[in-house]
Formats: sequence, C-alpha cells, structure tokens
Amino acid sequence: MPRFPNISEHAHSVSPRVYSQLAQRARAKNAEVYPLHVGDTYRDPVRAAQAEEQRSEEQPGLHKYAPVQGEPSAIDAFVDYVRARHGEAIDPELVQLMSGTTAGLSIVCQVLLEPGDEVLLPSPFWPLSRGIIATKGAVPVQVPFYTRLDEPDFDPEAALEAAVTERTVALYVNTPSNPSGRVLSEDTVAAMMRVVRKHDLWLFCDEAYEEIYFDREPPEAIWKRPEVRDRAIAFHTLSKTFGFAGARIGFTHGPKSVMGTVRGMQTFHTYCASRPMQFGAVGALREGGAWVEESRSLYRDAGYRAADELGVARPEGGTFLFLDLSELLEAGAEDCSAFLERCADRGVLLTPGRACGEDYARWVRLCFTSVPPARLEAALGRLAPLFRRPS
Ligand SMILES: Cc1ncc(COP(=O)(O)O)c(C=O)c1O
Repeated sequence: MPRFPNISEHAHSVSPRVYSQLAQRARAKNAEVYPLHVGDTYRDPVRAAQAEEQRSEEQPGLHKYAPVQGEPSAIDAFVDYVRARHGEAIDPELVQLMSGTTAGLSIVCQVLLEPGDEVLLPSPFWPLSRGIIATKGAVPVQVPFYTRLDEPDFDPEAALEAAVTERTVALYVNTPSNPSGRVLSEDTVAAMMRVVRKHDLWLFCDEAYEEIYFDREPPEAIWKRPEVRDRAIAFHTLSKTFGFAGARIGFTHGPKSVMGTVRGMQTFHTYCASRPMQFGAVGALREGGAWVEESRSLYRDAGYRAADELGVARPEGGTFLFLDLSELLEAGAEDCSAFLERCADRGVLLTPGRACGEDYARWVRLCFTSVPPARLEAALGRLAPLFRRPS
C-alpha cells in the first residue's frame, strides 16, 4: 500500500513519454518537422460533425450534461450505422457512449479486471492498450502475433494457448491493426475464438479501424460471431473512421451482464462525454458516408506510397506501417534509438517499436495519415536514404 511520498505500484508500470526529446531534437535542426509518430489524420471531419456547426439555437442546453448513456440521438445514429455497416441490429440499451475507446477500454477493464488478472495482448499493439490494462493493476500478457502471421509454421492458437494461465481473463483483438496494418484472416480469427471459448475469456474487440481497409471486402466484425456474442465487448470510435479524434467520442456495446455496470462505472469517470461533440457525432454518423469512402481511398494511396518508397509490404488497412529495422541497425545496437535520432535529425518523428510491445525494440512505427500527401512525400524523401538496405 503506497504511502506519501510514494505512488501506486501499477502507476509505475505505465511507460513514460518517449517523444518529447526526439521532437525537441527535430525542431532544433529543421524548419519543418513531420510528426509521423502521431496516429491521427490531416483531414477535417465532415461539416455536420465539426465543432463550429453545433449551435445553442438548434440544441437547447448544448453545454449541459448529457445523459450518462449518451444523447439518444447519438445512440440511435450509432445503432443505425452498425446496422448499415455490419448488418446487425444491436439493442440501444446495451450501447454506452464514452470519451473514445481510451475511456471505453479503461472503464470496461475497471469493471471486469481484478489486480493480478491477465489479459492476452497479441503484439505489436496500440500502445495505450497495454497501459490501460496495467493501470488497473492487471497484467497485459504480450504475445508476438501480427508480425508472425506470414511465418509458415506460425500457429495462432498454440501461440495464445502457451500464454494462458489460471489468471487469464480476457483477450484483446484489434483488426485492422495498429500498428501492423494487418487484417486478421477468418482462419486466424476462428483459432483465436477457440481459445476464448475453451478458457472462458472475455473478448475485447477494438474496432478503431473498422472502416480503414484497402482493396478488399469490409472485414467481418469479430464481436458479432455467434460463438462469442455472449462475451464480446466491442469498442467503436469516431476518432479514426470519421476523423474525430479530438472530439473524444466512442461507443461500446456488449452483453447485458456487463453493460449495466459499465454505465454505472461511467458515472464515476467522466459522467458523460462532451455533449456538443455528441451532436457532432450524429452529424458524422448520419452524413459521413462519402467522407469515409474518400478517406479510405486517400489513406490507401498514402499507405501504398509509403510502403513502396520504403521497400516494405503494403498495408491491408489502418493508418500505420510497422517497420523491421533488424537489417538496418548497426551491429550490436540493442534498439532503434540511434535510428530514431537520425530520423529526427532529418525532421521526421517516428514511434519506437517498443511502445507497441517488448519484442519490438528493433522496429519503428510510421503513421501515413498524420500529414497531407505532399508533406508525406517530403517526409518519405527524407526517410528513404535511411531505409536503404545494405546490398
Ligand atoms: C487500435 C486503437 N484503438 C483505439 C485508439 C484510440 O481511440 P480513441 O481516440 O477513441 O480513444 C487508437 C488510437 O490510435 C487505436 O489505434
């Protein structure tokens, strides 16, 4: 039990900020800095979603508290969106509007996890997922996964099985994935679901990139599979799909046994998400269809361009490339710090792979949607010489 002046044990396990030093270094040497470490978009959301469009004359009490569950119009718009995108009718009562998936996952973990419980976290992963689990005093169990999918002898079921213990309570899945850019195949998902059922785990489905997939059919949502419907909690966010990250709007839904308590827990966190932005979310969900399609095509072009320029496989979805530097690092280099500094010296900021998993010290992550295409092109021009493999 921590006593003044100590902080709690689990707070120690959350990683410190890694970017500020690199950003300083980049700014000191370059007039223009390219923040490809930030997972965001250069695009403004559709007009009806924008903050400037939310008006007190049209929405009386615009700045009052919203209902804890969320504005009914936003819940309805989300349920309609899910019906159109996933062909599923979800019960509006089982939907909770939260301040993005960051808050959603945090609150669900608060409801479902006890300190010491373990959550299977296929890696590389969205950096905050690990921290969110750790801040509850639970243990994120990292399982190298997405980067192994093409290995001929990789067995997804065996990899997860090997990580299961008495304390395992949940599996977190994200497809299309940050940072790998992979979309999980039906076989891989089926294997993962066998583990979930066999060990009676909760299933956390992170749908952040559900609209961002390239040259393929829309990926099938995992949460709607009949074999896991009773235990799947889905996290949808408007941050990526509708370019609405700063608005902090996400929707979580799951089984009745959980969602009532989630709503109660939400009261003690933020009470409700920003009310004006909930009305903005209605605009995004109702009027953002063409915006989403246009973004998908722009993001695909950006992702393919970046992959081609750096000589790696094209992404299947999402907004990132995850790059293995093993062949590029100096002999004896333990991690990519020196490489990241060289990138910063050229004005380009990338994320150290270790933020996405302990096995990825020799990898880096690049977001290809954080700056507009012309700036991305300039950044790639600066990076390309550093990515030339020794012949
Ligand atoms: C997989 C994944 N989930 C969730 C989020 C964050 O979602 P939100 O902005 O809704 O908190 C991100 C952001 O990068 C992400 O990559």
